[in-house]
Amino acid sequence: MGSREVALLLLLCMSSTQAADGGGSGARMKLTSGGGLINLGQRWGSKSPLMHTRANFTEVTSIKSSFEFRTLDPEGMVFYGDTNGGADWFVLGLRGGVPEMQVGKANTLTSVAGGPKLNDGKWHQVELRSEGIFVVLEVDGTAVLVLGLHGNREDCNLSGQIRLSLGGILVQELELLNPLQTEMDGCVRGGNWLNLSTPWETDLSEELRSCFTEIQKGSYFPGTGLALFNSSDFPAQQTDESGVEVKIQGLSSTWSGIVLSLKAAQGEPVLTITAQEQTEELTVKFGTQTGTLKLGPHSLALNLSKYAVKVEFGQQQLTTFEDVTQNWLTMWNKGLVLAFGGVPEDSSPYYLQGCLTLIQVNGQDVDLDRALHKHNSISSHSCPASPSPK
Ligand SMILES: *[C@@H]1O[C@H](CO)[C@@H](O)[C@H](O)[C@H]1NC(C)=O
Ligand SMILES: *[C@@H]1O[C@H](CO)[C@@H](O)[C@H](O)[C@H]1NC(C)=O
Ligand SMILES: *[C@@H]1O[C@H](CO)[C@@H](O)[C@H](O)[C@H]1NC(C)=O
Ligand SMILES: *[C@@H]1O[C@H](CO)[C@@H](O)[C@H](O)[C@H]1NC(C)=O
Ligand SMILES: *[C@@H]1O[C@H](CO)[C@@H](O)[C@H](O)[C@H]1NC(C)=O
Repeated sequence: MGSREVALLLLLCMSSTQAADGGGSGARMKLTSGGGLINLGQRWGSKSPLMHTRANFTEVTSIKSSFEFRTLDPEGMVFYGDTNGGADWFVLGLRGGVPEMQVGKANTLTSVAGGPKLNDGKWHQVELRSEGIFVVLEVDGTAVLVLGLHGNREDCNLSGQIRLSLGGILVQELELLNPLQTEMDGCVRGGNWLNLSTPWETDLSEELRSCFTEIQKGSYFPGTGLALFNSSDFPAQQTDESGVEVKIQGLSSTWSGIVLSLKAAQGEPVLTITAQEQTEELTVKFGTQTGTLKLGPHSLALNLSKYAVKVEFGQQQLTTFEDVTQNWLTMWNKGLVLAFGGVPEDSSPYYLQGCLTLIQVNGQDVDLDRALHKHNSISSHSCPASPSPK
């Protein structure tokens, strides 16, 4: 079988339907290489890919795409390809750290998942190739997933185009068989995409952000934005002792800025916890009350009960504020804005710079990719491995 035909199978060439063109080539498009170091995690809240490329079938000479991939993120999109303007498509993503391929072709959707967890923070060699009617996913030299597709080659349109994208999909209305969180805090390097030399396009207005050299588990806030949630997403138990527990870990002596805030939709924040770089203090403000704790410990725990907030910083430091004018657990369950890294709509924002190695609410890890809003500069699942000590 000629390599071109196989490539067509890989890319699911089949129907002749022409779907809407989602790729576009807007005025602000920037060109970049598909073979360099690419940080996929800089487009929060959009299904659109970070970058995409296209080619005529006649240019396709190879049946495989290969790249190195590194992430600590359990879920997100990595690679997308389509033909016929998006009518036939292919998606490679991760779910629970495990690779998953989904394919939509004519009116059929297919999904297959398996293989080792890839979200261990190490670089993995990934290869996608076509073998006859099968698409094979290889990780570190071992075939881990095989998906059979009985394509009808007669339906192939040799004058058509293929499109590829990284970190998102090109057809906004695309319905996956098994919906996947789009955002992927991961990096790709050394990509070879069907051996094409076409440059990739990106419409990101900011400069593309690079990847950290070494990574560790955590959420990194570079001091330019915040992530916010609705507190009602983490329901409180209505007990007197402790209704809500928020746990944050990290090397607090390297933090600077607002670690956490809690506020109602309108008005001043109810609670702010700020790491003050100059004084090396952690300032806790609850309504009109203020407490200070010494920076240094690696764990911060906040317990909200009906009429009080307790802040425990390390083993030794504890501060308690009481306020009986409100039932704070009722307020929490109704929905307060819980923000990490700043105060929403702050006129002079003091955004957090630092790594939070763990964020938990009521014992559950908080996934910043699932925030109501998250600034693109925040890395949801990775921090630089050795934060520079102050
Ligand atoms: C791809 O095909 C289109 C129309 O069929 C043509 O205009 C264009 O020049 C082709 N591009 C390349 C790189 O061959
Ligand atoms: C990949 O492209 C290069 C040049 O662009 C060419 O020399 C090489 O033969 C191609 N490899 C395959 C497998 O098509
Ligand atoms: C093949 O694709 C070209 C370009 O996308 C399109 O103009 C043409 O109508 C298609 N032909 C068939 C048979 O679908
Ligand atoms: C906070 O609540 C948790 C769980 O209820 C409890 O284990 C912990 O000791 C409490 N911490 C403080 C400072 O009250
Ligand atoms: C938070 O959730 C509550 C109920 O679940 C809802 O009434 C409220 O509007 C939400 N607030 C925001 C800011 O989304």
